Amino acid sequence: MRTLEDLDFADKRVLLRVDFNVPLADGEITDDTRVRAALPTIEALRKRGARVILVSHLDRPEGRDPRYSLRPLAARLAELTGVDVAFSETVVGAQAEALAAQLAPGGILLLENVRFEDGETANDPAFAAALAALGDIYVDDAFGAAHRAHASTEGVARLLPSAAGVLLSHEVEVLERLLTDPERPLVAAVGGAKVTDKIALLDSFLARADALLIGGAMCFPFFAAEGHATGSSLCEDEDLEPARRLLAEGSERLELPIDLVLGDRFAADAEVRELAGRDVPDGWMGLDIGQLTSAHYAERLHGAGTVFWNGPMGAFELEPFAAGTRAVAEAVASAPGITIVGGGDSAAALAQFGLADSVTHLSTGGGAALELLEGRPLPGIEVLRS
Ligand code: 3PG
Ligand code: MG
Repeated sequence: MRTLEDLDFADKRVLLRVDFNVPLADGEITDDTRVRAALPTIEALRKRGARVILVSHLDRPEGRDPRYSLRPLAARLAELTGVDVAFSETVVGAQAEALAAQLAPGGILLLENVRFEDGETANDPAFAAALAALGDIYVDDAFGAAHRAHASTEGVARLLPSAAGVLLSHEVEVLERLLTDPERPLVAAVGGAKVTDKIALLDSFLARADALLIGGAMCFPFFAAEGHATGSSLCEDEDLEPARRLLAEGSERLELPIDLVLGDRFAADAEVRELAGRDVPDGWMGLDIGQLTSAHYAERLHGAGTVFWNGPMGAFELEPFAAGTRAVAEAVASAPGITIVGGGDSAAALAQFGLADSVTHLSTGGGAALELLEGRPLPGIEVLRS
């Protein structure tokens, strides 16, 4: 992949794609991790005399919708960098071009949410050309959006000299090393609700990992395939066949919970009981892994050269069913090996338990990290290699 070292930025207008798709509540940024993660590239470009024009999406608006304006991100970025950040209410066109033309070397301009334009997700060549008209060079640091072949992540990279930013390069390096040359043993803990959502990831780790620890509701199709009763646990018919196949292919490396925490319904005030074993009685649903499982998984994670974790072990958003996810998060955080956590729910869980700074690498990508680890080519990365 081309990196910042491959290009000269002095006095250049640099169109920098970042992933500022942060959670907002009533217009307030509730987690600015992704903004802070983009700072090394922004600072590197400013130091080298670039005029920095930032492009990002925020959520999935249907056209121009003020609830999804990036304006609050300009204010946060100004706080974090200590320099003024200009904001363009239009993504492309006259206002954006005029503001871009006024930028001094080292200056920063943030464009409005790129998904306000239909041409973005359509990867429309005319819209990509309008974006390209704003800059002399394109830099992509939006790892979280690298699995999208959109105008600002893929189309525009074909129209300008282009390179990967610091964050994107680092994410790709860490995750590709996990796939190709991990410190062994490689132990992966994968949770979540549905086998079919994670099947490609499970296949990928079954082929590479020394142990694959399963948690979350996705253990029930495995139990059902083994002939256990699942009660009213989440267990969909379509997940049974893939679970059966994974068991047949890798049962010696695939580890399932040996005890569970049950609830009589999915609620914080549900009736709760522990189950030693895997047969869930009628009227009960499995909502977390049990203590023995947590202790066993923690031991496996502590013995790993490399740990990968993605997906909660139970319904951690409900306090009575959070212990398994907390135990795995703590085990990942205290494990002596290299620890890598995929974004999305696992990142939220780590943050909830105050452990976000205790892992080797917390990916800023949810879907992008998973697709990379499934072994799929990501359009936003491939285009920087061609
Ligand atoms: C994410 O939050 O995973 C990225 O910003 C990508 O967002 P998207 O799934 O809406 O494309
Ligand atoms: Mg999203």
